[in-house]
Amino acid sequence: MGSGRRRGNAVQRADLVIVANRLPVDRVVEADGSTTWRRSPGGLVSALSPVMNTQEGAWIGWPGDVGEDLAPFENEGMTLVPVSMSAEEYEEYYEGFSNATLWPLYHDLVAKPEFHREWWDSYVAVNRRFAEAAAAVAAEHAMVWIQDYQLQLVPALLRDLRPDLRIGFFLHIPFPPAELFSQLPWRRELLQGLLGADLVGFQLPGAAQNFIRLVRERVGHKTHRDSVYLPDGRMVTAKAFPISIDTAGFTELARSEPVQARAKQIREDLGNPRRIFLGIDRLDYTKGIYARLRAFSELIHDGHFTVEDATFVQVASPSRERVDQYRILRDDIDRLVGHINGDLGRLGRPAISYLNASFPREEMAALYVASDIMVVTPFRDGMNLVAKEYVACRYDDDGALVLSEFAGAAAELKQAYLVNPYDINGMKAQMLEAYRAEEKELAKRMRAMRKTIVENDVANWANNFLADLAAARPGHEKQVKPAKRS
Ligand code: G6P
Repeated sequence: MGSGRRRGNAVQRADLVIVANRLPVDRVVEADGSTTWRRSPGGLVSALSPVMNTQEGAWIGWPGDVGEDLAPFENEGMTLVPVSMSAEEYEEYYEGFSNATLWPLYHDLVAKPEFHREWWDSYVAVNRRFAEAAAAVAAEHAMVWIQDYQLQLVPALLRDLRPDLRIGFFLHIPFPPAELFSQLPWRRELLQGLLGADLVGFQLPGAAQNFIRLVRERVGHKTHRDSVYLPDGRMVTAKAFPISIDTAGFTELARSEPVQARAKQIREDLGNPRRIFLGIDRLDYTKGIYARLRAFSELIHDGHFTVEDATFVQVASPSRERVDQYRILRDDIDRLVGHINGDLGRLGRPAISYLNASFPREEMAALYVASDIMVVTPFRDGMNLVAKEYVACRYDDDGALVLSEFAGAAAELKQAYLVNPYDINGMKAQMLEAYRAEEKELAKRMRAMRKTIVENDVANWANNFLADLAAARPGHEKQVKPAKRS
């Protein structure tokens, strides 16, 4: 078992602690069998590392393998504190409660959530372990920032252990309407878990409002606008902080010579078609991959263009592969791509190039640069950073973005070709419009979208959240004063 408390004594106390399900590093096994850790490419870690390095930061997370007990270690100026997980906890807390209960429940029931009491027990136990690790490592009055749906009980568990801390929580995925959330047998416990934070951040204002309404109706606390007033005098704020990407970093990468050369190569390998459509997603049933591939294939079938004119590159990175719904999806997509290519492809010209793999950032940038139409069609998505990355890579203000109105990103990228992913005909119409669009029209849209992501990049996002958290008064200070509004 990972005892954060025992290990915490060995590491320096941190002023800023990030708590996330995963550590921001990937294990690399060298030729001689030794293990090193490589910084993972995520936007969150690149946004936070400057603050972490100046502030004495620590990151608490799961190192990615089960049943091992690792001591804290240093990586690029950050203390990393591994939290262990048994094989059973991996099944019940991670695959089970996080990804077969909460994930579908929070994404509009796109798949049916499963409710199992053992999974909940495991979720509580693992959340407690993360909270204990954070309590051990945080300096007095430190800021602790907890990330995402896997750890929604940590704020309250941590506050119990360390009332001196400023505690923030950010949910990267959608927060559902009360009507859906209320199915959860542990709805009250979960809301109370989140209420341990001083600041609860969401991707969109609507999600924050869903949370406030649930707290009022299900927990019975007083609320006013974005604030919750607890009986002990503490106040919790719930607000939207739309996450973003390292915009300048992506633009620079896209302009770089190796990425340019690779993009050219990709176009050649695909037979230099007039238009390349691109999809890049985790292989997840929320992403709408099936519907978009059908829409594309129907455009060929209906004679709007041929496989010589246009091709679709779909990258689907393997994800949560032992969870039933993900297995079913993989088989469905395999079969669909086989059918479409069998029906419509010609020798050396498949309609769809399907890659069931993950790629490094450089290759992703080359794909973004090589493609004319990026198709992002989730049924529900917290934000969708792929849409923003594509825009960041189109420094010449060209290319088209087809974007689901149910992705958080649609609230900001309003000049995209917006679609309802449940409406195949509507999706076909927008994809065709993007295919036929004049350069001038594309430039007008892309310019506006680029402005948006230059103004709000991931550093801004992190700074905004941390500034609001710093301004929040931690619970213990509040408790000395009687509450004005309870
Ligand atoms: C989403 C979640 C993240 C999660 C990621 C990858 O973006 O919001 O918390 O880390 O998917 O999923 P995985 O289950 O592999 O961590």
